[in-house]
Amino acid sequence: APTEKVNTDIVTLTRFLTEEQTKHKEATGDFTLLCHALQFAFKSIAYYIRRATLINLTGLAGSSNTTGDDQKKLDVIGNDLFISAMRSCARVRMLVSEEEEEVIKFDEFPDARYAVVCDPIDGSSNLDAGVSVGTIFGIYRLEPGAQGTKEEILKPGTELVASGFTMYGASTQLVITTKDGPVTGFTMDNALGEFIMTHPDMKVPKQRAIYSVNEGNSLYWEEPIKEWVNSLKGSESSKPYSARYIGSMVADAYRTLLYGGIFAYPADKKSPKGKLRILYECAPMAMVFENAGGQAVNSKMQRMLEVPPEHIHDRSGIFLGSYDEVQKVIDTYNKYQ
Ligand code: AHG
Ligand code: MN
Ligand code: MN
Ligand code: MN
Repeated sequence: APTEKVNTDIVTLTRFLTEEQTKHKEATGDFTLLCHALQFAFKSIAYYIRRATLINLTGLAGSSNTTGDDQKKLDVIGNDLFISAMRSCARVRMLVSEEEEEVIKFDEFPDARYAVVCDPIDGSSNLDAGVSVGTIFGIYRLEPGAQGTKEEILKPGTELVASGFTMYGASTQLVITTKDGPVTGFTMDNALGEFIMTHPDMKVPKQRAIYSVNEGNSLYWEEPIKEWVNSLKGSESSKPYSARYIGSMVADAYRTLLYGGIFAYPADKKSPKGKLRILYECAPMAMVFENAGGQAVNSKMQRMLEVPPEHIHDRSGIFLGSYDEVQKVIDTYNKYQ
């Protein structure tokens, strides 16, 4: 019988980072060290997520965060794990987290040149039900002499140097992209304890009849959004779309990246600025989808990456996914202008 084709040329995340650094002659290695710290943050969060039910880590922490979310125990633990990973690599000047009201400044590293934004556990309302959750992150490069003030991080997503997310699902997936770079997907091999490259150069299909939105909010939607969603429900001449909504942005985004379709969290009369946060949810995801050939816009159909946050927890409506599917929203919206 033929011997199983063994892949002896495995590309781990560690090797990927080394190869990326080698491509940039001027690289100091700081970005690489920062990414190694991120890698450990993902591994440790995944570890606790998967054991939560066994060690009584599900349920509420009894506190809430600045954006009004009730914090789950794992929100707090994920946040603490992330903060210590970012502090310990000595390459991060400041950190914005969904779970921290203010910017965390690492004044012990005044010369560190990176700022990190993160949503330590995205989809945490789903945690106790065992539904996939994840971590969303973005990396900005600070100007020389930065003081770590919040004004220095209120930047549009066009200034991100890297972004991505993990999804702690049936397996632990990592999707990462750099400015103008490809989108690369990795899968955790628990035996090796390594992220293995499984999805080089990810591209979101140009169109796909799947839409992902919480229709429980449709009472509050603006007219163009109502018309757009109704247009997806088919007619004599067009087949209806499939509805898929998990309620964890990372899970809805990962499916959309792989299968195509559109994910939307519109701003509406109930949430005039939308629900999702620009710095650590909308912008990082927008860069992933643009680099994968898709589109990402806000509720005014402005390019999501060009929308600067007014404060570190500022929110925005968002539509992201297949190029043609987002274009349908834009075209419907423009009929009302
Ligand atoms: P987080 O758990 O980080 O607060 O994010 C939750 C977000 C996002 O994951 C998801 O797309 C959205 O909330 C779902 O909101 P609804 O339950 O209102 O649909
Ligand atoms: Mn939350
Ligand atoms: Mn989130
Ligand atoms: Mn969160």
